[in-house]
Amino acid sequence: MAKSIPAALQEHGEVSSKTKISVVGLGYVGLPLAIALARGFDVIGYDLNSERIDELRQGVDRTFEIDAPMLRASSVRFTKDIADTRDADIHIITVPTPVDDDSAPDLRPLKTASASIGSIMKDGAIVVVESTVYPGVTEDVCGPILEEASGKVSGEGFYLGYSPERINPGDKVHTVDKIIKVVAGQTDEITDILADIYGAATSGGIHRARNIKTAEAAKVIENAQRDINIAFVNEATMIFQKLGVSAYDVLETAGTKWNFLNFTPGLVGGHCIGIDPFYLAHRASEVGYFADLILTGRRINDSMGTFIADSIEANLEGKCKILILGLTFKENVPDLRNTRVVDIITRLRELGHEVDVHDPLANKDEAQKFLNIDLIESLSDLGGYDAIVGAVAHSVYQDLSPAAIEGMMTDTGLVADVKGIWRGTEFSSGIKRWLL
Ligand SMILES: NC(=O)c1ccc[n+]([C@@H]2O[C@H](COP(=O)([O-])OP(=O)(O)OC[C@H]3O[C@@H](n4cnc5c(N)ncnc54)[C@H](O)[C@@H]3O)[C@@H](O)[C@H]2O)c1
Repeated sequence: MAKSIPAALQEHGEVSSKTKISVVGLGYVGLPLAIALARGFDVIGYDLNSERIDELRQGVDRTFEIDAPMLRASSVRFTKDIADTRDADIHIITVPTPVDDDSAPDLRPLKTASASIGSIMKDGAIVVVESTVYPGVTEDVCGPILEEASGKVSGEGFYLGYSPERINPGDKVHTVDKIIKVVAGQTDEITDILADIYGAATSGGIHRARNIKTAEAAKVIENAQRDINIAFVNEATMIFQKLGVSAYDVLETAGTKWNFLNFTPGLVGGHCIGIDPFYLAHRASEVGYFADLILTGRRINDSMGTFIADSIEANLEGKCKILILGLTFKENVPDLRNTRVVDIITRLRELGHEVDVHDPLANKDEAQKFLNIDLIESLSDLGGYDAIVGAVAHSVYQDLSPAAIEGMMTDTGLVADVKGIWRGTEFSSGIKRWLL
């Protein structure tokens, strides 16, 4: 078996600076990974979105993960043509793994990427999946597609691996080059090679998972665990709203106990926490298990936007003019994927209110194209709102002075503070307040 492993991988204790790596899918995960790996290896990045490749070649990363000087200084070569990656010893797949309209895993990007790689990969190549998947996808879904497209046999003509990605968009501390990287290969030898490769790219260390399915399962429960913990806090928050108690006050108090877990209420959007639990629940149902707790957590978290809108409505009189501050799925990132702020907007509009939306980080065209929302360009010159809703805790909103907020409102308007960002802010006496 070892003789099928590419020569470059057998030198210098398996890997060397000549090892060629292709990263397939250059988004929030793929680009930072490619940049980190290029510090030690010969890296080529492929994406089927030609606009993205053009931008990266010009030093522009629209996800804000990599700044222009770092992008320009990197040795990563960017290509729109999968054939340019044919010499790669290792192909790493970092394409999206969303859910469809029925919340079932949508594996189409992963299948397409597998077929593309299979059509060009050389003998002995290693294909590593980094996209988040349910246990079994790498070996049982990607493996057969790679076999069919390449005419090679999995485990003989090419090898599989899995290494979950743990980065958190906008988090400049837990970056890909500093966190513990989990690796698993089809054989111990492949796991060793992956440990060498990723070990060179991160100072955080390597954890060798027992096998590929274990690594896949670990990733999905990391995010499902967060989702369930947030769902618990959201459920408690809904109860506290009825009791007239602020969840933030309760959490601050309970948080003084040494083992109380630190989660805050709110919307759960984005590409990971609100999606990955569905992957595990899907696989569970395939093997005859109903993932009750996981799906209940999803349902509670997905109901939060409507609950927030209805709570705001209860503090308004008649049809109102409302300004929503923040549209992205979390603070200080431009990512609009699966943002649940949309649920607040939709519900308030259903209730007959006039709703404007502002977000300086979101891409205006994407907001219009994907969400049918026209973003307001600037906060200056705004006025007369009956309510202002702080929906996303962007730093720019945390920095707004009380005078700036009040200047946009009527004298008796409502400040609705979903994220608790203005908890310590004093407003004029006529201003009404609502928070979770
Ligand atoms: N964003 C995160 O913080 C994060 C964290 C951990 C894990 N993940 C997981 O990593 C994976 C990638 O997520 P992301 O946020 O980087 O997605 P993304 O949408 O930002 O980027 C994916 C890129 O893949 C490209 N692409 C799609 N299909 C392709 C194909 N067949 N061939 C080549 N390129 C293709 C897209 O054009 C896009 O540029 C997902 O499985 C996600 O769940 C994401």
